[in-house]
Amino acid sequence: MSSRVALTEPRVRAAPVAAAERADPAAGLLDRFGRKATDLRLSLIDKCNLRCTYCMPENGLPWLKRQQLLTADEVRRLVRIGVELLGIRELRLTGGEPLVRKDLEEILAGIRAEHPELPVALTTNAIGLESRAEGLVEAGLTRVNISLDSVHRETFAKLTRRDQLDAVLRGVEAAAEAGLTPLKINAVLVRGINDTQAPDLLDWALENGFELRFIEQMPLEAEKTWQREATVTAAETRRLLNRHYRLEPVAEDRGGAPAELFDVYNGDRPGREKSAADGGSVPPRGRVGIIASVTEPFCAACTRTRITAEGRVMSCLFSRDEVDLMDLLRSGADDQAVAQRWAEAMWAKPAAHGTDRPGFELPGFTRPKRSMSAIGG
Ligand code: GTP
Ligand code: 5AD
Ligand code: SF4
Repeated sequence: MSSRVALTEPRVRAAPVAAAERADPAAGLLDRFGRKATDLRLSLIDKCNLRCTYCMPENGLPWLKRQQLLTADEVRRLVRIGVELLGIRELRLTGGEPLVRKDLEEILAGIRAEHPELPVALTTNAIGLESRAEGLVEAGLTRVNISLDSVHRETFAKLTRRDQLDAVLRGVEAAAEAGLTPLKINAVLVRGINDTQAPDLLDWALENGFELRFIEQMPLEAEKTWQREATVTAAETRRLLNRHYRLEPVAEDRGGAPAELFDVYNGDRPGREKSAADGGSVPPRGRVGIIASVTEPFCAACTRTRITAEGRVMSCLFSRDEVDLMDLLRSGADDQAVAQRWAEAMWAKPAAHGTDRPGFELPGFTRPKRSMSAIGG
């Protein structure tokens, strides 16, 4: 009898691949629901130089010690095992803040030397990117997603508890100049702080040719203050933006991507031309994405596998069960043994939000042991 379990989530898709009966590295990172992880998100460090209120406490967190972190060689080995034995097709390096690692260029160059074609992206807050963007491209970086919630200095400082907007904007500019495109901007809207500024942020992104994505806040902050009612929902964000612009859903299969994309046309904001979508003759100004992790979850199409900075597999952003690979890496185990344990961890991936159905406010949901800063996004 098949051990495949039906997903209880409403937006279930047909199983995209033939399901194996059990974890088998030869089948790739398959889970019990027939999903296959091909997107590896590897955190390089838990430390960060900002203190975003929806992520970190004001005084930071107890950081991992250097010897607890994956070394450049260990990262390279894990990526090799992922790509050569387990079907990984794209890589994202995350943090904390990955630019805090001084050996980021070395890590990238090592990966690039072994995988000339692998797309390698970075999730960063862009502090310090100004002086490193070019070198990162030379080392093999292909793309960046930059976290930026406001283009207003005071609001930025309030949200991140650091007055660093200028450094971030210089980093964004350097990334664009270095050719790290399409450049995506990630913004979390926090009610009463930056929600009403959403159109300003979109204006800035459109003017610069960046793809902005608004992310619903998830219960991943260290201080455990998240409330469902306080979340600025995707529906609210669409309404807010539609007052200034006109959004038209993009008719493309989104695959496993978290963001739902919209073409953005000028609305009837004072001083702007009337909506182009009506006439259909003027092209859109650009695109915006909305990542509705809370109200319109996308777990059924998930293609992601995560490894934390200390070498533990998280099969889901909300996994409480982490599977350690570091002890294998540091005890002389061969690549097959590492691949086997990684595949087993993914086979047990929960259906949605770390449990059997999506819904952070539902009974059964428990937070992961770590906050977003120690997972990486
Ligand atoms: P690209 O479009 O390929 O650049 O990547 P992406 O859309 O996966 O973007 P990114 O890695 O920047 O993720 C953006 C945000 O989406 C993250 O910060 C999370 O808030 C959210 N997100 C990403 N992956 C997941 C996931 O597996 N589950 C949930 N619930 N949210 C996710
Ligand atoms: N909910 C949603 N997104 C979050 N991020 C950090 N904390 C949260 C949260 N609680 C996002 C940041 C960054 C990425 C690493 O994760 O904005 O873009
Ligand atoms: Fe740092 Fe990102 Fe967390 Fe902000 S969201 S504190 S930039 S890890």
